[in-house]
Amino acid sequence: MNPSTSAPAIRSFVSSKAERFTESVIREMTRLAMKHKAVNLAQGFPDFAAPEEIKRAAQEAIAKDINQYAITWGAKPLRDAIAQKFARTQGVETDPEREITVCCGSTEAMIAALLAVLNPGDEVVVFEPFYENYGPDAILSGATPRFVSLRPPAAAGETWTFDRAELAAAFNTRTRAIILNTPNNPTGKVFTREEMEAIRDLCVQWNALAITDEIYEHILYDGASHISMASLEGMRERTITINGLSKTYSVTGWRVGWAIAPPRISDAIRKVHDFLTVGAAAPLQQAGAAALGFPAAYYDKMKVDYLARRDRALDFLGAAGFICYRPAGAYYIMTDISRFGAADDVAFARYLVEKIGVAVVPGSSFYSQPGGGAQQVRFTFCKTEQTLRAAADRLAVLPQMHGFKS
Ligand SMILES: Cc1ncc(COP(=O)(O)O)c(C=O)c1O
Repeated sequence: MNPSTSAPAIRSFVSSKAERFTESVIREMTRLAMKHKAVNLAQGFPDFAAPEEIKRAAQEAIAKDINQYAITWGAKPLRDAIAQKFARTQGVETDPEREITVCCGSTEAMIAALLAVLNPGDEVVVFEPFYENYGPDAILSGATPRFVSLRPPAAAGETWTFDRAELAAAFNTRTRAIILNTPNNPTGKVFTREEMEAIRDLCVQWNALAITDEIYEHILYDGASHISMASLEGMRERTITINGLSKTYSVTGWRVGWAIAPPRISDAIRKVHDFLTVGAAAPLQQAGAAALGFPAAYYDKMKVDYLARRDRALDFLGAAGFICYRPAGAYYIMTDISRFGAADDVAFARYLVEKIGVAVVPGSSFYSQPGGGAQQVRFTFCKTEQTLRAAADRLAVLPQMHGFKS
């Protein structure tokens, strides 16, 4: 038989789920930055060294032959350290034997959690703009996201806000969960206690879960403080808290994160996680246990260092003509680009990476609707002074090129 004449045409073989989302724009921008030798202010990974102690702990763990599979839901020293730190910083007591699942980054923790609790037809409330993974995460787990707008500050000194009535209207009998990211990427918003309580009340009213991504918990400015949803009265039993080593300890390539949830939910997350990845890297989990025990001085210094980087970035972005939304947490600045007269955010981001030599993320990658974020781009500032200076120098040409005074 000649297969070329008798076989049916090759079909696409791509699942309808995979057809429904595109590759990550953030990761694509990193590849473009490398291609054009641009300064990468797109993807949120530090280009400075990770703390010596955590690196040494990883090296020692490998030398001590902690090189085989850890327990699938996480090495005991790391789970114990996570429980102790959560109790110490947020006053939430958890049982490391039954309520903590260590995953390959908070990215896996989020998708494992969603796969563990969502059914097709369920709805998930998500604030928009949102960290781009949440859209595909919802699709992969068969649920429908319901977006609620975060509105940019109208004036300097104000923060991103949401309309309480719009949030309330997003909840209904199909709502299974809300995904909350605080401190927030990309807006830099840190949700206040009052806002969290309003979300809590809706979760209780509609019997919904809160799935909270708290990966930037220690990166805070201007007196903002981080509140874990699980610490609010009535939420301990209906919250999945997601966190990880990536941002707090500058080890985004290690891929260690975790989900904290009540035992029944953790049982389901552990099953999903086991069959997705079996486990996170064993020696790096060991090093994570050491890192979580760092003294308060470590977190204080990190905050001071990030504050200096944020203020530096606000200065040079403002001087270059960007209207900056001042972040109260995390390490990103969302900006309004309307002064540049660009057709849209994607065209402008392409122009910046190709012609100016600075990579950013187009605003639309954080929105669900066409047109959302069309006059916004996001910068990250988790970079060395040298990198920030190179970006500042390159962006400094913009006002003259676009015919306005900075
Ligand atoms: C809000 C948010 N969640 C999760 C992640 C990914 O974290 P991890 O490296 O732990 O997978 C990021 C990375 O940029 C993020 O911004």
